[in-house]
Amino acid sequence: MQFPVKSLSLAVMAAFLPSLSAFANEPLANGKLIDQEKCYACHAKKTGFGNGDMIYTRSDGKVTTLAKLNSMISVCNSELRLDLFPEDESDVSKYLSQQFYKFKP
Ligand code: HEC
Repeated sequence: MQFPVKSLSLAVMAAFLPSLSAFANEPLANGKLIDQEKCYACHAKKTGFGNGDMIYTRSDGKVTTLAKLNSMISVCNSELRLDLFPEDESDVSKYLSQQFYKFKP
């Protein structure tokens, strides 16, 4: 019996495409998701607060401009090999900027 590869791959595409296209138009939602999935746990552990948001709001934070935020995201992304796409870096930057740092876009 032949395995129904074609219908399987269509089913897989159908399962993934809606979520991809939904996030493509939602940089903030995508950025938040990335932060929660890839960044939050390590920051929570590193700061010792048990709260991964606090690294972004600590008073001695080094990030004081949007440019520094973007370079910090790049450092975390490449040093730690998180493999974010450039669009994802930009989405996470938009989210962190809007949610925590309040930089002007
Ligand atoms: C394996 C651990 C780890 C992961 C994963 C990680 N980070 Fe970090 N991140 C750190 C550490 C440690 C610091 C503090 C560096 C310092 O104080 O110099 C930091 C600091 C930062 C800061 C600066 C905060 C501030 O205001 O001072 C930003 C922004 C940041 N990370 C973004 C990210 C993003 C976005 C991701 C996910 C895509 C991420 N990091 C994933 C360890 C991590």
